[in-house]
Amino acid sequence: MSNKSNILVTGGTGLVGSHLLVLLTEQYPKVTAIYRNEARIEKVKHVFSYYDKQDFFQNINWIKADILDIPALEAAFDGVNQVYHCAAKVSFAEKDEALMRKVNIEGTANIVNISLSKNVNKLCYVSSIATLDKKPKNDLITEENEWNPESNNYDYAITKYGGEMEVWRASQEGLSVIIVKPGVILGPGYWGENTGRFFSNAANNYPFYTEGMTGFVGVQDVVKSMVKLMESEVNNEAFILVAENKTYKEVLTQIAKSIKTKTPYIKVNSFTANLAWRFSNMVSLLTGKKPLITKQTAKSSLSITRYSSEKLEKAINFSFTPIHQVINGLGRLFLQDKILKMNQKLS
Ligand SMILES: NC(=O)c1ccc[n+]([C@@H]2O[C@H](COP(=O)([O-])OP(=O)(O)OC[C@H]3O[C@@H](n4cnc5c(N)ncnc54)[C@H](OP(=O)(O)O)[C@@H]3O)[C@@H](O)[C@H]2O)c1
Repeated sequence: MSNKSNILVTGGTGLVGSHLLVLLTEQYPKVTAIYRNEARIEKVKHVFSYYDKQDFFQNINWIKADILDIPALEAAFDGVNQVYHCAAKVSFAEKDEALMRKVNIEGTANIVNISLSKNVNKLCYVSSIATLDKKPKNDLITEENEWNPESNNYDYAITKYGGEMEVWRASQEGLSVIIVKPGVILGPGYWGENTGRFFSNAANNYPFYTEGMTGFVGVQDVVKSMVKLMESEVNNEAFILVAENKTYKEVLTQIAKSIKTKTPYIKVNSFTANLAWRFSNMVSLLTGKKPLITKQTAKSSLSITRYSSEKLEKAINFSFTPIHQVINGLGRLFLQDKILKMNQKLS
């Protein structure tokens, strides 16, 4: 194996990117990853410890670069022939619209433009089920339920779709691409952020649940399928990554059980959800803190959408880990991290 890094990962300090780095560094002696803030690298190191793979952490060649900073980004592409583009601004807050447009669309344009100019062979872009039309032609939403501009599309979805357009353009210009569209990703290490908050909220006996339904997937399945697709002959295709469709009630109840806290018992309907996001908005304006619930999260948590991953399962012969198994594993890691944090505070 060559010692030159031929793989670049963006978003390596985030949930998907960090677990992807564990998988890639096991196979390759050097993998380049970009970062913006050194403190975030410690989180990645901790993710490696979940797998007992700390020795492989040194295989990462960290380069400081923002995806909006073209000269810094170009330096990270030295010798690279495969790119995993996981970096994005993930937010459902209205105030983040402009930043999301910049990072998720312009940032992705930068990544594909440099990929084209530097002779990268293949690129994997992490998009989302958010870019699919929510009105299925059949019972289940598939990759054929393409973006519908007439649907009430929210800022995050619009910007992830804008990113996809940049990636498809690059495919027209000769770059081989894979687009993955994961459902709600559950994974360890980022308990205070995005979906990690399901666990930290449950630890505080969060009482609310909804009967809304969506697709869920474990982070390990996300990164395994990305690597399998990149190593396959499959090109210029998009794939939904959803292990199972579940209600928020089922998932939140299972999470609470996995960490032995009180299961949610207050059902939220559209009336109470509307009150909740308005109240949360007001608190956020007064305190400057991130809102606990936004107009979009309230809406999404009530809607019923079901997805099919049959295309992926057939293309690379992939089987997903059942969500109850994913949650039970995460519950153990959450409790382990909680004890670690308590011991660190004491010492
Ligand atoms: N989590 C989910 O449930 C979910 C579901 C479907 C799709 N996705 C998609 O999956 C991908 C990864 O999501 P995630 O859950 O891993 O998100 P995450 O934990 O929030 O990580 C986002 C990553 O992007 C990086 N980033 C953000 N802005 C950047 C910029 N301007 N320049 C360079 N890096 C930047 C962050 O760097 P810092 O550490 O420096 O902030 C971080 O490494 C995203 O494309 C997201 O849209 C996520």
